[in-house]
Amino acid sequence: MSFNTATDRRNTNCAKWDLMEPLFGVSPKDGLAMWTADSDYATAPCVIDAVKAAAEHGVFGYGFEYDAYTASIAWWMKTRHGWTIEKDWILTTQGLGNGIALCLDVWSDAGDAAAIFTPVYHEFALKVQKAGRVVTECPLVRQDDTYILDLEDAQSRLTGKEKLLIWCSPQNPSGRVWTAEELRAVSAFARKNGMLLISDEIHHDLVFEGNTFVPMALAAPHDIDNTVYLTAASKTFNIAGQRTGNMIIADANLRADMRKRLNTLDYKPSALGVTMITAAYSPEGATWVDAQLKHLQNNRDLFDAGINAIPGVKSMPLQSTYLGWVDFADTGMTQKEVADRIRDVAKIAVSPGPTFGTGGETFMRFNLATQKSIVEDAITRMQKAFADLQ
Ligand SMILES: Cc1ncc(COP(=O)(O)O)c(C=O)c1O
Repeated sequence: MSFNTATDRRNTNCAKWDLMEPLFGVSPKDGLAMWTADSDYATAPCVIDAVKAAAEHGVFGYGFEYDAYTASIAWWMKTRHGWTIEKDWILTTQGLGNGIALCLDVWSDAGDAAAIFTPVYHEFALKVQKAGRVVTECPLVRQDDTYILDLEDAQSRLTGKEKLLIWCSPQNPSGRVWTAEELRAVSAFARKNGMLLISDEIHHDLVFEGNTFVPMALAAPHDIDNTVYLTAASKTFNIAGQRTGNMIIADANLRADMRKRLNTLDYKPSALGVTMITAAYSPEGATWVDAQLKHLQNNRDLFDAGINAIPGVKSMPLQSTYLGWVDFADTGMTQKEVADRIRDVAKIAVSPGPTFGTGGETFMRFNLATQKSIVEDAITRMQKAFADLQ
């Protein structure tokens, strides 16, 4: 099974393709789905084998976070990220969106605020708002082809009501891979302002050649008593539909707070999700991820070359993630004009930049975790749709 094998996901209860028409007005019959962050190819063979074995066994009764599961997570963090964790630091959530919502629930009250650095994964702000908390936006600064932090400016935006800082590393969108120095500064900023740091590292495995991801726990080990680390196999292995993520909490007090809440909610992990993660975080899984990274890097290079050939359109060079972040500012068109053309002429469902908060106004996000032929098709459609700019 290659990453380039055509896979028709339509009519398979697939949010990305089966909801593109109601959500974005692009028909799956002749359109392309390049919005939500999952991949159009099958997961690793070792994960599929584990699911097949479970299906052949045929009994889908209650499971639990057994030893092999927590050991596989600890093994992955150690071998892929150089991070030593204890197995009992791991708490399983129903994915990381759920993990963020739980953090808001446990460590803030209605009317409190949470700080985020924008542009950032749109659900950060939505989760804060849905919980009845207030979003404090701290914009990242655009510098050439990337984003940098301005913590002085961020400081001036805090209202004093922030209880949490929800941080994305690597950054979605833009793929920015933060340096250890930047991570330390963010961690210190959170502590100085009395905010618990929620470090969402869901994209940590999808980092391209020439860039090194540093776990927050290694950059700022002195702050583990003020940090909750969120990780998952979901993006890395394209198993997000299993709704299984991990909170890694080194501090016993913080962990006790969260465990209590999970007990109150009677949260228990999906047995199949646990099976899949145990299989994924293995040497076979690691080999598959390395192959996937080469595929994604090729897609990124192809996409950038094709999109950047359109005058006024600029794709930010991705250091990580498969989420192409494309700026249309220099086309001279309004965001609505750009959006209309992508929807009606190119017929591509993409994630609108403004939903990622301040700094996203002139952007669109394109999901590149797909077959090469779909990336090529998208480039052709975009070049035709914006042909008058040539
Ligand atoms: C930074 C980030 N956090 C969390 C999520 C959501 O994760 P889950 O599917 O586990 O809820 C995403 C999905 O795109 C994401 O990009």
